[in-house]
Amino acid sequence: MSKPILHMAGITKVFNTEEMETHALRGVDLSIYLGEFVSICGPSGCGKSTLLSILGLLDLPTAGSYQIEGTEVAQLSLSEAATIRNEKVGFIFQSFNLIDELSVYDNIALPLRYRRQPIPHAESDKKLKECLEKVGMSHRASHKPNQLSGGQQQRIAIVRALVGTPSLLLVDEPTGNLDSRNGDAVMEMLRQLNSDGTTLCMVTHDPRYADMASRLLHISTPQLVKEPHETAL
Ligand SMILES: Nc1ncnc2c1ncn2[C@@H]1O[C@H](COP(=O)(O)OP(=O)(O)OP(=O)(O)O)[C@@H](O)[C@H]1O
Ligand SMILES: [Mg+2]
Repeated sequence: MSKPILHMAGITKVFNTEEMETHALRGVDLSIYLGEFVSICGPSGCGKSTLLSILGLLDLPTAGSYQIEGTEVAQLSLSEAATIRNEKVGFIFQSFNLIDELSVYDNIALPLRYRRQPIPHAESDKKLKECLEKVGMSHRASHKPNQLSGGQQQRIAIVRALVGTPSLLLVDEPTGNLDSRNGDAVMEMLRQLNSDGTTLCMVTHDPRYADMASRLLHISTPQLVKEPHETAL
């Protein structure tokens, strides 16, 4: 059996606010192997987005071990985490998260601008144009995101996640804001990327799309909310 590219053991996440302590994840054990397509389902509030944030180093776990390609990353500083995230992970969010002040071209160029080793302009320009071509969006390069349809914005968000050739693509409800035709087109793109070798981990509520994955994970345990007086017991 090949080694997992991601390995989590006993990952917990507790959010502390003034009123309460929320146990969003309680002891997650998870391994993801190179080239897999894993989908994650579960009821609202069970911790799916929290898990994706930790997988993608956007957030750190409260406890537990997390290894990416054999390197422990659960205790990294924020800047160390950002460096690894920028080189290895692509994100696609439900709400696209494009920057409205920047053109389509500048939005997708962002991941390349923050590289430890800068990429020569001619090389990055070629790559960005090829990616836009691939998703049929070359004619929209100088548009702003709010001048695009939802399906077009999601295609741009996918390109932005891919320009840095991440080894892992994390996707949170990619079709949540799309009609079924655009949703199917986005899923087809993701399926193609996976068959080209990108490891994919996707949260979805749609059973049709979840079934496209090679492995389906259910998070069923409702997270536990403790009121302060209970915590003191
Ligand atoms: N920054 C935060 N501070 C406090 N509590 C949080 C924070 N982020 C998430 N939570 C809580 O953690 C729990 C898990 O949230 P999460 O967003 O991971 O759920 P989810 O499974 O993605 O739900 P949905 O399907 O509705 O997107 C929820 O109870 C949520 O209220
Ligand atoms: Mg969520």
